[in-house]
Amino acid sequence: MDKWSFFSGISICVLLNFASVEAAPKGSLITGLPGFNGVFPSNHYSGQVNFPFICLVFIILFYVTFDDKNLFYYFIVSERNPSKDPVVLWLNGGPGCSSFDGFVYEHGPFNFEEGKPKGSLPILHLNPYSWSKVSNIIYLDSPCGVGMSYSKNQSKYINDDLQTAADTHNFLLKWFQLYPEFVNNQFYISGESYAGIYVPTLSAEVVKGIQAGQVPLINFKGYLIGNGVSGSQFEGLSALVSFTHGMGLVSDDIFEEVERACKGNYQNATVSCYNSIGKIDKALSGLNIYDILEPCYHDPASDQHAKGNASSNLPVSFQQLGATDRPLKVRKRMFGRAWPLWAFEKDGKFPSWSELALQGSVPCVVSPSKPFQQALETDLYCDPICSYQLFAVKQNDEVATTWLNDESVRKAIHAEPKSIAGPWQICSDRIEYENSAGSMLPYHKNLTAQGYRALIYSGDHDMCVPFTGTQAWTRSLGYKIVDEWRSWMSDEHVAGYLQGYDNNLTFLTVKGAGHTVPEYKPQESLDFLSRWLDGKPI
Ligand SMILES: *[C@@H]1O[C@H](CO)[C@@H](O)[C@H](O)[C@H]1NC(C)=O
Ligand SMILES: *[C@@H]1O[C@H](CO)[C@@H](O)[C@H](O)[C@H]1NC(C)=O
Ligand SMILES: *[C@@H]1O[C@H](CO)[C@@H](O)[C@H](O)[C@H]1NC(C)=O
Ligand SMILES: *[C@@H]1O[C@H](CO)[C@@H](O)[C@H](O)[C@H]1NC(C)=O
Ligand SMILES: *[C@@H]1O[C@H](CO)[C@@H](O)[C@H](O)[C@H]1NC(C)=O
Repeated sequence: MDKWSFFSGISICVLLNFASVEAAPKGSLITGLPGFNGVFPSNHYSGQVNFPFICLVFIILFYVTFDDKNLFYYFIVSERNPSKDPVVLWLNGGPGCSSFDGFVYEHGPFNFEEGKPKGSLPILHLNPYSWSKVSNIIYLDSPCGVGMSYSKNQSKYINDDLQTAADTHNFLLKWFQLYPEFVNNQFYISGESYAGIYVPTLSAEVVKGIQAGQVPLINFKGYLIGNGVSGSQFEGLSALVSFTHGMGLVSDDIFEEVERACKGNYQNATVSCYNSIGKIDKALSGLNIYDILEPCYHDPASDQHAKGNASSNLPVSFQQLGATDRPLKVRKRMFGRAWPLWAFEKDGKFPSWSELALQGSVPCVVSPSKPFQQALETDLYCDPICSYQLFAVKQNDEVATTWLNDESVRKAIHAEPKSIAGPWQICSDRIEYENSAGSMLPYHKNLTAQGYRALIYSGDHDMCVPFTGTQAWTRSLGYKIVDEWRSWMSDEHVAGYLQGYDNNLTFLTVKGAGHTVPEYKPQESLDFLSRWLDGKPI
């Protein structure tokens, strides 16, 4: 029998009318968050809101515990109209990556500015493009073992797709019991990258629960997936070959040679097919797979290039890349934030992140330099703290790692200390994960045919899960086109393209964005999100 507990919660809020949040779990209010020294500008907002409680950012964090699994979530009440706005669940991928990735780097309520000196606590500012502007959003660390979610029983860190979907559904039922005031709101499931598997499998569980009359009855309406995998034949090499050719990364000659040799069959590739693909591989080496426009940094020390260092040998045009209107530039080394190119498309158990790093096969991320290689070899199989440090070196996630491993922050957000929940890693090295759900196409077909809305979006410069594969699988569902390929606008500029299909399926690109779309294009992302959630044309 499930038992569940909540240790504590917080909110960051200007609560002008506390009584209206009475249904939220007790003890949820906090008055500060390390790194955030600002006073919430309450007057700024109080005039324009028109709902029972006036609340800028209302953030609640809890563990929900069942089956010895403590799942950590961070909930932000909508800054617009909490009682009308949908509830959105956000899931980062991996598998094994924390949804604090989305919170810190993509669409969370704060813009994080790197602390000075390096390694000190970051400074937090309000993010004008937070997805909490238009939705009540839950960031969940899932499956158990990821981010702040933990168990005292290590065998709970062994997971697969279907177990994860079942656990997350369980979490949602508990969550809506905790927050009955949100149970009538529309509910959407969203995520990125490997969450291309989490989202449809979870959606199917939720739908099964609804059909079985499980209470609380979740008012599920649909789902969004960004640069998500589909586990289908349309991705992997097949998507990569057309992407690289279309983007001018390989010549017509090489493209034609590959087409001739492989005949579209990349799953059982012949020797000549593999040899010709080798030419593409060679052409791509040195590129940043998460955004082909970004420079590739081969070792952590070269990170200073990213800071616009005047004496850097990087051209000025490159130094400007990755700048957005948020204080942090987009990350350059993003190991673990998505599955690397060649390692995907396999059923069964995934290698752990450190096993993958040992293969040294992740361009732009794992340095081929000898000292670094030695560090990997000598430090890999020690203890969790040690491998956490190792990952901190490899990745460009210092800000989140510093913030979430600071005990005062953990206390403020009511996460357990490191001694209990373990150190926070952007992508957990302690879980074992099996890819067990197969192709997602039957799921998408099923869900959309039953009237659930789907927005499938792609940063069009991501080479990790390129838009070519996503465009192909959405098209393969065979639905009638109801909104033919057209540009969509943000701030009077073309922000990308979309194609609308029957059954409320929309495929959308975000022009110039890499793998983690809102990190590259925060304003555009909030635009398409809010229009889509509101049921308006994008
Ligand atoms: C740990 O979990 C496994 C699998 O759920 C279970 O078989 C085992 O009894 C648990 N161990 C303890 C000490 O609870
Ligand atoms: C690949 O080859 C295996 C064994 O020869 C066969 O069973 C499978 O159907 C083939 N797959 C494709 C996509 O051709
Ligand atoms: C700027 O870049 C140069 C060349 O890479 C490096 O030697 C120098 O230390 C960097 N300066 C700063 C302040 O990072
Ligand atoms: C599709 O929906 C039907 C009816 O709800 C269900 O029985 C079936 O398992 C679903 N298939 C998938 C792949 O979700
Ligand atoms: C599309 O979504 C709208 C709003 O949820 C719904 O009313 C409509 O029935 C859906 N259309 C289809 C074909 O499922």
